[in-house]
Amino acid sequence: MPKLAINGGSKTVNRDLRQPWPVHDEREENAVVGVLRSHKWWRSGFDYYNHGDSKLYAFEQAFAEFHNSKYALAVSTGTTALETCLRTLGVEAGCEVIVPASTYIASASCVMICNGIPIFADIDPRNYTIDPKSVEALITPRTRAVVAVDMGGMPCDTDALGDICRKHNIGLVSDCSHAHGGQWRGKGVGSHADIAGFSCMPGKVLAIGEGGVVMTRDESLYEKAFRYHHAGRDRGEESLNFTWPATTLRLGEFEAAIGLIALTRLEEQAEIRWENLKYLHKGMESIPGLTGLDIDERVTRWNPYRWHFKFISEEFEGIHREQFRKALQAEGVPCGIGPTKPLYQFSMFASGKWGETGCPIRCPLYRADPIDYTRVYCPEAERIHETEALDLTHRILLGPRENMDLILEAFQKLRNNADELKTN
Ligand SMILES: Cc1ncc(COP(=O)(O)O)c(C=O)c1O
Repeated sequence: MPKLAINGGSKTVNRDLRQPWPVHDEREENAVVGVLRSHKWWRSGFDYYNHGDSKLYAFEQAFAEFHNSKYALAVSTGTTALETCLRTLGVEAGCEVIVPASTYIASASCVMICNGIPIFADIDPRNYTIDPKSVEALITPRTRAVVAVDMGGMPCDTDALGDICRKHNIGLVSDCSHAHGGQWRGKGVGSHADIAGFSCMPGKVLAIGEGGVVMTRDESLYEKAFRYHHAGRDRGEESLNFTWPATTLRLGEFEAAIGLIALTRLEEQAEIRWENLKYLHKGMESIPGLTGLDIDERVTRWNPYRWHFKFISEEFEGIHREQFRKALQAEGVPCGIGPTKPLYQFSMFASGKWGETGCPIRCPLYRADPIDYTRVYCPEAERIHETEALDLTHRILLGPRENMDLILEAFQKLRNNADELKTN
């Protein structure tokens, strides 16, 4: 008789482990109706200069405070938040920006939108975030910034990255799109970088509708970001003077009103996920072949958008990660592959050209021997994506403790029946 669900045996989990997301109740309903009836759907005129009665200002202040930073600026998406970060740091044609090979495309496309060149660094096999050693080896006189992604919500080593960036006089951008509510050394993610970008689209751990946030402690970067997102106008009396060719990335009051309420839930949700995550790590200690990522002691909270963990084939009787993953899904645990394939493997990079002119790579402002992405090789990013990394969504980590027990039970069942698993 087969034991494993993938072979017709009974399933370990007979409920949907994913909690409903995004979370909302009558508070959001009232907030949205309140904005609707107020006739004030955007941050206009007077409010732009006086921090008037605007949901956006309230949301921004609460967001910055939550993450122990100073200034936050709500913008249209996470991608445009990152674009704004790079613009404030002066990224333009001819500039290189170092980004991790394993991340969502926006962490690199924000560079290309600014006509910069993304340079891919490898990731640290201990926690799947950008490897500071790899970053330092890639710095050239053209490097203008590093985009450090808190992958899956795991805070990067912003101490080491900050030291490197200061030494070379380049900017450090945190891409915290997966990490709202996380903490490094007791302070919110993003607050350790020069400037940070967050996505708040509905799938993220802070869901407000479409939207993003730029966050910084630096007043001049904030003012630049403000100018960039508001069509190149400064804040203040002289605001009708357009001082910078820019764009319009404003967010509306509706999303901000929802965001204000979502923020009041973030602390509790982040704690639930963090406690569940530590419980899973402990539970996996007795299951050879499965292990949690290393959590540096300076990570004081990981609020996982994706809970990445490791499948070690050699310690799991040589079973392939995909055999395990499919069998786990059949047991009722929705499980994905960890970080995406390295970005340089996508066809856009292989072609080395994203416009008819060849700019910004084949461009007089760049190198005479421009980068050839087909020759980039980040061994850890490739190995981890192909053979090792698995992930569960934040919606699962938000569940009750008994759900974590079911996940561990499914892991243990596959481990106990490795011989049967091998036949799949
Ligand atoms: C790491 C990372 N950065 C940036 C973004 C871009 O966010 P948005 O989709 O809001 O533009 C995402 C979105 O998934 C992301 O995962």
